[in-house]
Amino acid sequence: MTDRKDAANSMWGGRFASGPDAIMEAINASIGFDRRLYAQDIRGSRAHAAMLAAQGIISDNDATAIGEGLLTVLSEIEAGNFPFSTALEDIHMNVEARLKDLIGEPAGRLHTGRSRNDQVATDFRLWVRDQCDAATEGLHALIRAALSQAEAGADWVMPGFTHLQTAQPVTWGHHMMAYVEMFGRDVSRFEDARRRMNESPLGAAALAGTGYPLDREATAKALGFDRPMANSLDAVSDRDFALEFLSASSICAVHLSRLAEELVIWSSAQFRFVSMSDKWSTGSSIMPQKRNPDAAELIRAKIGRILGATVALFTVMKGLPLAYSKDMQEDKEQVFDAADHLLLALAAMGGMLSDLTANRANMEAAASSGFSTATDLADWLVREAGLPFRDAHHVTGSLVAMAEAKGCDLDDLSLTEMQSVHAGINQSVYSVLGVHNSVASRQSYGGTAPDQVRAQIARWKEKLA
Ligand code: ARG
Repeated sequence: MTDRKDAANSMWGGRFASGPDAIMEAINASIGFDRRLYAQDIRGSRAHAAMLAAQGIISDNDATAIGEGLLTVLSEIEAGNFPFSTALEDIHMNVEARLKDLIGEPAGRLHTGRSRNDQVATDFRLWVRDQCDAATEGLHALIRAALSQAEAGADWVMPGFTHLQTAQPVTWGHHMMAYVEMFGRDVSRFEDARRRMNESPLGAAALAGTGYPLDREATAKALGFDRPMANSLDAVSDRDFALEFLSASSICAVHLSRLAEELVIWSSAQFRFVSMSDKWSTGSSIMPQKRNPDAAELIRAKIGRILGATVALFTVMKGLPLAYSKDMQEDKEQVFDAADHLLLALAAMGGMLSDLTANRANMEAAASSGFSTATDLADWLVREAGLPFRDAHHVTGSLVAMAEAKGCDLDDLSLTEMQSVHAGINQSVYSVLGVHNSVASRQSYGGTAPDQVRAQIARWKEKLA
């Protein structure tokens, strides 16, 4: 980064006799991070210049020189030989100053009817809009990976948990599809946020609009926005779009962390429900037997920084008077960081899930222990022995206690032992004590029966096609 130690700032220093204090420059500059907006900034400026010419506000020759000069700036930045300057504060003034070096006087006409306030709002919206698309793409890949797992194991039985205690048998496919539903809602949140943010602030100028006969519809259209924002004060001071992106990211990161946590638990020696491939595991430098699920742990942790960014920007925006305040420059680093880490976590989870092996036999063995079919037994007593559910619950509880005392499972109890608790029990009770029968019976819409799970997989595949 070069430092131009001019007396006063060449872009706005008309009324200043001297340049800023070094510390002032350090606190004020955003070029260290907002250079990431260069492509959006140049795109916005080119649209603005073309519109200025079309409206007869600047000449066609000037607009052409500006448009071509901006492309040169773009290629310099992309080639990595652009002279970024802290004294020029931000990406907007760095680009414009370089344009002036390249094309001279016409560069000074680019900022007609525009302010950095609507410029930065436009650039940042364009950037966040792209992140919504990238998040949607990452989520779709992840949903596909979960769908493949669900399809392979639509009828593989595993313990379903409440309080992390064995509750009732469910299927692996059903468990995977639960995440498909969560990630599907995440997609809809990003799509929804994108739709709402897709309005153009450009032309709002500093805060009040402008006296130049701008065509805001034209610049909105050129930048892929649905329409110009309807209120210039709102256009320059709104950061809802960033807050919505961060909120959607936070909820998505919560889902990722829950799945990551399950993978950490399931891959432990005590569970062994899943095996992670070598690609997604690490070893220990001291304990040779270790295979650590580091990627899952890091995904589990990402919510920390993403929610942190969300809280940070909410806190910055809270209580800000209209319209623009420099506080709002603090929006970018938070959103950049959250977006980078969300996309990384989505990609890692998608890859990890694709390479994951679910251990059918271990899951099924675990599902068969822990009295997971006790509810099925109680339901049998209601259906076949005519007991009210509360009484059936009580009888089943006694049978569980008996099995627990004997150190066996429910289906290891003899018929005589069962009849000692309730005389109405007969041989057919054993059919409901098996985990496969248990899951097959859960035919209610959205239930864990393999038929239901397959129907949901089919619905999702159609939706994604
Ligand atoms: N770097 C500034 C930001 O990110 C650009 C807008 C500056 N506007 C101003 N009036 N100083 O917010």
